[in-house]
Amino acid sequence: MFSTSLRSTMCGYVDLEFLGKEINLVGWIKRVRDHGNIVFIDLGDRSGIVQVFTDRKELMPLVKGLRSEDVVQIKGVVKKRPDNMVNSDMKTGEIEIDLKEVKIMNRSEVLPFVLDDDIKVGEELRLKYRYLDLRRGCMNETIILRSEIIITIRNFLFEEGFVEIETPIMSKSTPEGARDYLVPSRINKGKFYALVQSPQIYKQLLMVAGFDRYFQIARCFRDEDQRADRQPEFTQLDIEMSFVERDDILSLVENLMRRIFKEIFKTELPIPFKRLTYDEVLEMYGSDKPDLRFDLKIKDYSEIVKKTDFKVFNDSEYTGGILFENELTRKEIDVLNDFIKSTGGSGITYLKLEGSTMSGPVAKYFKENLFNVTKGIILFISGKKKRTLEYLGMLRKKLASMKKLYDENEFNFLWVVDFPLFEYDEEEKRYVTCHHMFTMPKKEHLDIISKEPLKAKADTYDLVCNGVELASGSIRIHDRNIQKEIMKIIGMSESELEEKFGFLLEAFKYGAPPHGGIAPGIDRLVSLLLKKENIRDVIAFPKTLNGIGLMENTPDYVSEKQLKELGIKVVDDEKN
Ligand code: AMO
Repeated sequence: MFSTSLRSTMCGYVDLEFLGKEINLVGWIKRVRDHGNIVFIDLGDRSGIVQVFTDRKELMPLVKGLRSEDVVQIKGVVKKRPDNMVNSDMKTGEIEIDLKEVKIMNRSEVLPFVLDDDIKVGEELRLKYRYLDLRRGCMNETIILRSEIIITIRNFLFEEGFVEIETPIMSKSTPEGARDYLVPSRINKGKFYALVQSPQIYKQLLMVAGFDRYFQIARCFRDEDQRADRQPEFTQLDIEMSFVERDDILSLVENLMRRIFKEIFKTELPIPFKRLTYDEVLEMYGSDKPDLRFDLKIKDYSEIVKKTDFKVFNDSEYTGGILFENELTRKEIDVLNDFIKSTGGSGITYLKLEGSTMSGPVAKYFKENLFNVTKGIILFISGKKKRTLEYLGMLRKKLASMKKLYDENEFNFLWVVDFPLFEYDEEEKRYVTCHHMFTMPKKEHLDIISKEPLKAKADTYDLVCNGVELASGSIRIHDRNIQKEIMKIIGMSESELEEKFGFLLEAFKYGAPPHGGIAPGIDRLVSLLLKKENIRDVIAFPKTLNGIGLMENTPDYVSEKQLKELGIKVVDDEKN
């Protein structure tokens, strides 16, 4: 397989079919075992490793001088291994190559770290020498699996009638969203492109253009604070469809996920996925991306606890609790309490229940067991409702990971639908959209968007799996007047919306079809599927948390000449 002028096949594909044949192989020296009269070499490439041996005296000087990661070409005869030497753990474990000739194609110096899957290497070093890190079996495999997932996605979408279309990366800076990465224009001095944060507007215009079903494996760029699941440049599977309603898109994505599980993991993923509204998940799980591999629902105990004379309960707008039907030690409760405090909360209190016996710091306030629970411990948090629910959501996750309440191998998918259309930004003192400004309000809320913006829900959907937001999408506005109304509610003036989005509003004049779409994050999807904790592990050349490319050293200074051509002067804050 994959023969070239220099090789007959790849190292990992040499099998019994080649028995007795003389073949050429190329690859990296993975190990040399010198037994004096006989030398064994592990020769490898991305397909695997094959064992080569020689007892020929004339080859000894060359073979004994081989070092790890030298690149060699060999000629040899494929032989069956003696029965007691068969290695069933190896793909090529039944055969070995009797070496006839060896040619060194390129030497390797001593590596900065050993290329072994089991050896822990600091991430900085791995990123600096990413090409070596990627040569390790586990990393190689991850990047190949990512490619296979993308091929599966493409095949599925082609079968479903989608057209793959590229859209500009150099685009226009628009308000909202994250900060833009800007690209200065030399021939239009003083003007800037912005790298696209997502192809949102372009894909909508492709619907106006009549493509009906579009997708793109799209690079997106956002200048935002980095986290384990965020990169400044990342990849989306960007999808848009015309003449659809929400459920058409949800079902397309469910079937796509099903296909990925079938082809990549050979397992049947049950569909349809669970659907809950934003209001429901917030009330029950304190998060808009809850992990449903475990239950631990939040209960509203506000009414019940107000029957006591405990001041905190009485003075709080809301008291919620999580019932854990098992034992928790004092130490475990302290860890949970410290955790909530570390996130800014004022802490938790609890009540242990065993039949009619109650214990714990608040037990003295309860004359009787009001909870309809005969065994377990209720962890309470009190305060303002919205914030308290968030703390309870974090508590839920912490408790579940502390007590290992879920199966690491489960994939629990969930659709969260009907997010609010707007939220109020206290800092900016204005309404902002929860998804983006092109999102259609729910039909039944169209007439309240200006009057009661915070009550209006949007026709949105997020795909969540194991507590990770994998995808976000919505039915879009295709009506120019609704679009303008939304833009005005978020504070744009008539002239600003014309200047920034005039082209889109104009497009809506000429027969824009109803449409909607979604964009799963590919990096997040792959890291979730392959159980990687950080999306950097599924990206060939990622940036660090500070947005730095450690290998090539980006970002970097540019010459005065380049700056001059662009009409840019760098102001050094420290000097000025
Ligand atoms: P949104 O901004 O929610 O929606 O992004 C969609 C998905 O992209 C992934 N994602 C990221 N992945 C890695 N690093 C980042 N910095 C990052 N930011 C987002 C997430 C997220 O769910 N145009 C809309 C989609 C639409 O409405 O069709 C959009 O970009 O998995």
